[in-house]
Amino acid sequence: MRMLDIIEKKKRGGILNREEIAFFVQGYTRDQVPDYQMAALLMAIWFRGLEDREVLDLTLEMAGSGETLDLSDIRGVVVDKHSTGGVGDKTSLVVAPMVASLGVPVAKMSGRGLGHTGGTIDKLEAIPGFSAALDKKAMVDTINRVHMAIAGQTANLAPADKKMYALRDVTGTVDQTGLIASSVMSKKIASGAQVIVLDVKTGSGAFMKREEDALELAARMVSIGKGLGRTTAALVTDMNQPLGEAVGNSLEVVEAIRTLQGKGPKDLYELCLALGSQMLLGAGRTGDPGEAKKLLQEAVASGAALATFKAFVEAQGGDGAYVDNPGLFPEARHVAEVPAPRSGYVQAIQTEEVGVSAMLLGGGRETKDSPIDLAVGLLVRKKVGDFVEQGEPLVRIHASGRERLEAVAARLTEAYTIGDAPVQRLQLVKKVLT
Ligand code: URA
Repeated sequence: MRMLDIIEKKKRGGILNREEIAFFVQGYTRDQVPDYQMAALLMAIWFRGLEDREVLDLTLEMAGSGETLDLSDIRGVVVDKHSTGGVGDKTSLVVAPMVASLGVPVAKMSGRGLGHTGGTIDKLEAIPGFSAALDKKAMVDTINRVHMAIAGQTANLAPADKKMYALRDVTGTVDQTGLIASSVMSKKIASGAQVIVLDVKTGSGAFMKREEDALELAARMVSIGKGLGRTTAALVTDMNQPLGEAVGNSLEVVEAIRTLQGKGPKDLYELCLALGSQMLLGAGRTGDPGEAKKLLQEAVASGAALATFKAFVEAQGGDGAYVDNPGLFPEARHVAEVPAPRSGYVQAIQTEEVGVSAMLLGGGRETKDSPIDLAVGLLVRKKVGDFVEQGEPLVRIHASGRERLEAVAARLTEAYTIGDAPVQRLQLVKKVLT
């Protein structure tokens, strides 16, 4: 078999078979296929697309290109949850303990933040001592003890995807739904969970700006998961404004703790109930969506979810005193409000700009090796549909230096559109696909 023939076939709109897909995935991972040929194939795929069967085969090949986690030593049906990335998305910190406190094991592999979106591991590292460097045995033991664990992705999980994703990033071939779906799902399949619940974000702060693209991606990922024997659900959810109020690592952990105490922002809690319900249904904890929601609400009201979060933090080396007393998190040196330039209703928020602002404060990464400042970030006080008086705070900035604070304040003022006409609040959960 020759790589050139595979490129030619896809260029002319052909459908690649399993052997051809195995040839280029394995060849590229082993450095037998050069970057220039792989780049040509990816561009041909971008123009010609991939059929469902090709996406399934690509996912399987990439999932099998490295280590796969065998979670069969965990008692119960293991659930994973994944978000395609957003601004202020601390959902995993809340929904994982809610579900785990009901006895359903949650095994989550997470990444670090990049660009305008944050990462779960960075947020958790705001808790002194917390470590996501778990090997398979530590992960299984932790889950059997406290019903949940959140681990950083090991280097050898789906290495084919890692290499192909890096090449896609520099060849204009990231935004193809078949390639994205197989990339995300290859890591989920290799991570071993039996139930996969996906949160596909759409809107100005998401990777998928257009709802129809998010729906297509969600449908493709559900089809892959089911095709490979995993119970899979996807929620398409709004990211036209930050989720909750906090954007920035320790600020988001504090908000997650408040939500587990039953005192968090309504939108964040609503999303956690919707995702958590799918996790419980998928695991067979209950077959009734209404019952699932009730169980989750009770887990918060009784304090069980918060207790599970603390047990999980301590099991992974973190200081549980920070969960009991979030006042222990260090405050950023400079705090200031961004005032509304006029009175009116918030019509829209350029959410990616909010994420970029948090990154520029030092809370996120411009490149994958940038250091981050865990204390800085934003509290978004006004959301779409809110009325605001001129001079009232739109956003509160937590910064480590004055210069950055001022630059970000100007940017955030621009990110808000305020007008006279009342506007509808945004619908958070747009669609559930199972
Ligand atoms: N995230 C991934 O893991 N893969 C993609 O292709 C895009 C986003």
